Parts: sequence; structure tokens; C-alpha cells
Amino acid sequence: MTPTEPLIQMVDVDKTFRQGHRVTRVLRGMNLSINPGEIVALVGESGSGKSTVAQTLVRLYEPDHGQLVYAGSDVSHIRGGELKEFRRHIQMLFQDPFASLNPTQTVRTILLRSFPKESKTSGQKALEQHLRDTLAEVDLSPPDNFLSKYPHELSGGQRQRVAFARALGVRPQLMIADEPVSMLDVSLRLGLLNLMQELNHSQGLAYLYITHDLASARYVASRILVMYAGQVVESGSADAVVNRPQHPYTQLLVAAAPDPEQRGKRDESVTINGEPPDLSQEIRGCPFQFRCPLVFDPCLTVNPAMVEVGENQWARCHLFDQRQKTVVRG
Ligand SMILES: Nc1ncnc2c1ncn2[C@@H]1O[C@H](COP(=O)(O)OP(=O)(O)O)[C@@H](O)[C@H]1O
Ligand SMILES: [Mg+2]
Repeated sequence: MTPTEPLIQMVDVDKTFRQGHRVTRVLRGMNLSINPGEIVALVGESGSGKSTVAQTLVRLYEPDHGQLVYAGSDVSHIRGGELKEFRRHIQMLFQDPFASLNPTQTVRTILLRSFPKESKTSGQKALEQHLRDTLAEVDLSPPDNFLSKYPHELSGGQRQRVAFARALGVRPQLMIADEPVSMLDVSLRLGLLNLMQELNHSQGLAYLYITHDLASARYVASRILVMYAGQVVESGSADAVVNRPQHPYTQLLVAAAPDPEQRGKRDESVTINGEPPDLSQEIRGCPFQFRCPLVFDPCLTVNPAMVEVGENQWARCHLFDQRQKTVVRG
């Protein structure tokens, strides 16, 4: 089998924000890789750096250190035409479609503006067809019911589908969906997740699905990355991460997540005590040590490396670090 070249990769990326004297190290050696046509979920609490990952992936931010690699080329610091060309392949879907759609434009105008230049030279008839096809792809039909509408005339779910259609019109290879369902009514969430999957199957569209909700990550993604304080702390197949979580943080997330077998009821006895660390302070040792029920000596001084803990499953925890095993048992 020939190994597929990843569509996009983040390699040891650091990203720091400076506001006056305050320096916030948001991404700390962030690694991520998405293959063509793959759905990867990035799961983590608010403040763990998920949106900063998204914005770095579309190069709204430049990495301070490390690399962003697209189809084998380093795009960490490209500019101008090259950057513009790169961005065509990656589209973003945001949490709040209302904020991302211009309220003074109709759906027709919103979509037309997003289409690449080539499609505008192919004649009025072809363009009209492309408009309709794009709406049909996101299950907004019949198209005539939607083309002349303004965003405020649509429901939340329909608005998110228009935002989706706008992103699709560019024919991207990767869609970064940053909490795309968290502002939708619970009853509409599944529909949007299913739509994401349908387009993955029919067009081979890859996704980075960003969420704080492990259950939806498992539903939609084949691989899950769990993020904590600007790093990935566990990764693996969705099945392995949810059914056999290895990192203590993932284990707590799984235990606290709604159990579908119990009709959405969760185990109320499980809470993750404490707060994530302040990223503007230096963190010595493992960033999870302050909340970890299994903390032991090495965690206080050394940030653990990612180690393989199962078949294609990785965790960043001293419990699995061979060199520390004697300390655990001793
Ligand atoms: N432009 C910025 N300037 C300063 N701090 C920022 C900026 N963007 C994000 N942060 C900080 O980085 C941390 C992670 O933010 P974010 O990436 O939005 O996390 P998430 O999406 O997981 O909630 C937060 O503490 C946030 O305040
Ligand atoms: Mg966010």
C-alpha cells in the first residue's frame, strides 16, 4: 500500500499572542494531520486553542515556530497570490451563520460572490445551474424558495446551510467546521452532521470538525484528536478514543459525556474539577497535572511526549512513558 500524502499538516506549531506585557502561549507544539477525504475531529474545552488551530490552518495566523504543510509544500509563511491560491482549497464554517452572512445580501448574491471567477465566464445559464446545484447539495430545495431570501428570513438551520453552500461553491478540499452546530437547535444538529458526512462520501470533502462535544465527534469523525492547553494529548480512531480512552483527561471527558445508551443522561458524579491552566503563565511539567486524578512526581517537572498506547492510538502522559514506569510502580 502506498502511504497517502496528508492534505494538510501542522508540525510542532507554536502560536503566541502579545497584548502589552501579557504574552499568551496558545499553541504549544501543536501537531495535526488530515488525509484527503478524511473527517478528523478536534475536541477540547473552551480556551484549549481549537479556534486558533483553525485560524492558523487557513493562515489567518502565521505559526511562530513549526510548520504548516499543504500537499507537501511548506505554506507557513507564503504571501500574496500564493496565499490566495492556498486559501481556495480550504473553507471555514463558523459557529454563528448569522454573523458570517451579510444581512443586506440575498442568498443569490451571497452564493454568486463566493463562486470562483472561472464559473462566472461560463455563461448565465451555466451559472444559474451552478447556483441551483449548490443549494441542492445542502438540501435547500426547491432553490427558488431560497435564492431571493435574506438571512433574517431563514431559520438558523437554513442559514447554516447557506453558509455551507457558500463554502462549497469554491470546491474546497478541506472544510474547517468550528463548532458548526453548537448554536443550532438540538433537533437540527444531526441533520447538519449528516449533511457533512454525505458531502464527504459524495465529493471526498475532508473536514476538521471542531467541537467540545465528544459524542458528536464520535458520530461524525473517523479519527479524534483531544486537545488540552494548546497541545494534542490523545489521538486515535474515534472508536478507540471513545471506547478505550488512555489519557486521564480523555477518560474524564468520556465519563462526563452523555451516554447514548442512557438516553442522553450523563453520570452526574463525574466532573472534571478545576480550571484549565492560564496560558499566559509559564507551565512547568504536564499542563493537566493540576486536575489529574493520577498525578505523580514526573508530571510536576516534565511535559510528557506523545507515546503509542494502542494500535494507531497515542497519548501524552507519563503513565505510558517507559522511562517513568519504575517511578509509577515504586
Ligand atoms: N487574538 C488573540 N489575542 C490574544 N489571545 C487570544 C487570541 N485568540 C485567542 N486567544 C486566547 O487563546 C486561548 C485559546 O483561544 P481559542 O483558540 O479561541 O480556544 P477555543 O476555540 O478552544 O475556545 C484563550 O485563552 C484566548 O483568550
Ligand atoms: Mg473556539
